[in-house]
Amino acid sequence: MMNILQTADLAWAEQWLKAEKKHYINGAWIRGSGADWQVMNPATGQSLCGFALADVDQVEGAAVAAHDCHKSDIWSRRTTRKERADMLNAIARLIRDNLEKLSLLESLANGKTYAEAIVDDIPTCADIFEYYAGWTDKHYGEVSPVEDGFLNFTTKDPVGVCALIAPWNFPLYQASLKIAPALAMGNTVVMKPSEFTPLATLFLFELIDRHLDLPKGLLNLVLTDGGTANQLTMSPNVHKVSFTGSTNVGRKIVQNSGMSNLKAVTLELGGKSPCIFFDDTKNLDAAIDRAFTVMFSHKGEKCSEPTRFLIQKGIYDRVLEGLIAKAEAVRCGDPLAADTNQGPQCNTAQFDRIMRYIDIGKSEAELVAGGTDDRVGDTAEGLFIRPTIFSNVPQSSRIVQEEIFGPVLACSPFDEAEDALRMANDTAYGLAAGVYTGDVSRAHRMAERLDAGMVFVNRYGCYGLSSPFGGFKQSGWGKEMAIHSLSSYTRTKATWVYFGD
Ligand code: NAI
Repeated sequence: MMNILQTADLAWAEQWLKAEKKHYINGAWIRGSGADWQVMNPATGQSLCGFALADVDQVEGAAVAAHDCHKSDIWSRRTTRKERADMLNAIARLIRDNLEKLSLLESLANGKTYAEAIVDDIPTCADIFEYYAGWTDKHYGEVSPVEDGFLNFTTKDPVGVCALIAPWNFPLYQASLKIAPALAMGNTVVMKPSEFTPLATLFLFELIDRHLDLPKGLLNLVLTDGGTANQLTMSPNVHKVSFTGSTNVGRKIVQNSGMSNLKAVTLELGGKSPCIFFDDTKNLDAAIDRAFTVMFSHKGEKCSEPTRFLIQKGIYDRVLEGLIAKAEAVRCGDPLAADTNQGPQCNTAQFDRIMRYIDIGKSEAELVAGGTDDRVGDTAEGLFIRPTIFSNVPQSSRIVQEEIFGPVLACSPFDEAEDALRMANDTAYGLAAGVYTGDVSRAHRMAERLDAGMVFVNRYGCYGLSSPFGGFKQSGWGKEMAIHSLSSYTRTKATWVYFGD
């Protein structure tokens, strides 16, 4: 029943969308002074709501507020770790108490199905806050083995002001993955959601403001576009940027850090992840089912999804047939309807980009499923694209080398393990990789040599908060989740004490 949308929630959303949308700066709700902006519903092409974006001065004002709060020590020192944990748990409770509303806002602005939002994304946001609540007093330093007469110990101090820049594919989840560890470690925050999908994050900030008594300037929210958000990465008042999004913007952020105050940067960027199927895969049907689901859920707008299937020649036709049947069975449509499998792409720029790549793919390989938009009848104004599969795709083709970020899968056959390994590692990205095989030794050999930050053996796409998430090569710098995220929101200080004569 949980994933069935209630009419009361729809009525609530209608009212909430009409209310004025503001920015949360230094504990107050401020009207934007920037350009007018409309948040669109990608399923209908209609505006959901409009507001004025924050301008550069307001963005800098949020950074200054967070800086002042950091300098006051109110959160990092004068609030106890137990109180910090209580606050994070209270945020988790607000999310759980408002699962339906948050899921609805996420689905409306992003286009993912309501079921995906309420079963997957939003409950995980609460889990994230609870997980990091448990860490406020557990991220230990160490006593270093130095010479007699000295004590050397390390402490994990907050970095300071963290600018958290999130994309549009998992809006509140990405925000939570950044806000929770930043607060747990005693930092202050300026949150910048994607301008396409700010609604659920905005509503969570409203809930926090209404129900919790947080220090002014601890948590700030600016709704603005990338050009204006550039200020956050140049600001002398920001000490760290955590960014998830495109590789190109990641590069720009690194440049800006270098040109300003050398703020710390963590980057979670794109992917072009391979999934290798050997012909001794134990339960091939289950493997196809799982890999297809991970590839095409959330309409293929996921950085770690397996967008390249490398299939050993002996099972190539069988795997391809299974995939085509699944692709043809997908129902694209209203993301709020219970029987929809796939919603619309998030925004027009993304829709156009995917369609351009599909055209490129048609000239590079054999199209065996989809390849068309799905804008007919009731969905004529929506940004729907059918699950698309290309076969016999050459390694050098653009649809193998470049991130598309949509429901487009490239399948290629291989002969030997060495061929699969070479093809798997031969892109600029290194976020994730999968291997299906019944041979344990081969699984380990492949896992060791796959050049990716995460490797999945015999089940693609396993995630847990205690396991680090993040890529190699141009997929980014640093890790999110687990203790690794905490480290990236702290500075390690070494203190020497001399107690000799
Ligand atoms: P993007 O990288 O432009 O946007 C991500 C976030 O960064 C948004 O909040 C945006 O407002 C902000 N941003 C943009 N320019 C900025 C700047 N100069 N300074 C500070 N913040 C800035 O991603 P976009 O254009 O929306 O999507 C393009 C491609 O990026 C996608 O097709 C996909 O390949 C990739 N992408 C990857 C994601 C991931 O999870 N790794 C998520 C979203 C997009």
